[in-house]
Amino acid sequence: MKQEIALNINGDTYELLVSPNQTLLEVLRDNLGLMGTKRGCDLGACGACTVLLKGEAYLSCLMLAMDAVDKEIVTIEGLGGRGNLDPLQSAFVEQGALQCGFCTPGMILTAKAMLSEEDHPTEDIIKKRMAGNLCRCTGYKKVIEALQSVSEQTAEEE
Ligand code: FES
Ligand code: FES
Repeated sequence: MKQEIALNINGDTYELLVSPNQTLLEVLRDNLGLMGTKRGCDLGACGACTVLLKGEAYLSCLMLAMDAVDKEIVTIEGLGGRGNLDPLQSAFVEQGALQCGFCTPGMILTAKAMLSEEDHPTEDIIKKRMAGNLCRCTGYKKVIEALQSVSEQTAEEE
């Protein structure tokens, strides 16, 4: 039986009727039309569905929507937009790290969570933290370079 819940997503509150077995990914895409969160494997293996909950990266295909109640959810739509990019998004653009629409949103949100915990991550840390976000085609070199550039920029500003 469906239940009424309220989710806080990108600063807005959404009241929804959801089934107990509906994942957060399904609700984001199918109920709310927030298509920036991608359905890749739907099995917890690719990272394409990554969102932030209270600033931490979670795989929305493995989380029930009901378990996301009372947690601030940020999807890629909430990070920044045209003319108002998050510094991380700008770094991806400047370093040529923008890849396809399937892997990039999840990579950016995983990186956002990492950079909130690690001021100046080493290349090894970046590789470890990004290991759950898969690209089946282009690779990871530019992504790592973009993340290093954000980290260096932050260090210069301090
Ligand atoms: S769609 Fe969630 S990890 Fe692949
Ligand atoms: S999966 Fe997105 S560029 Fe490879």
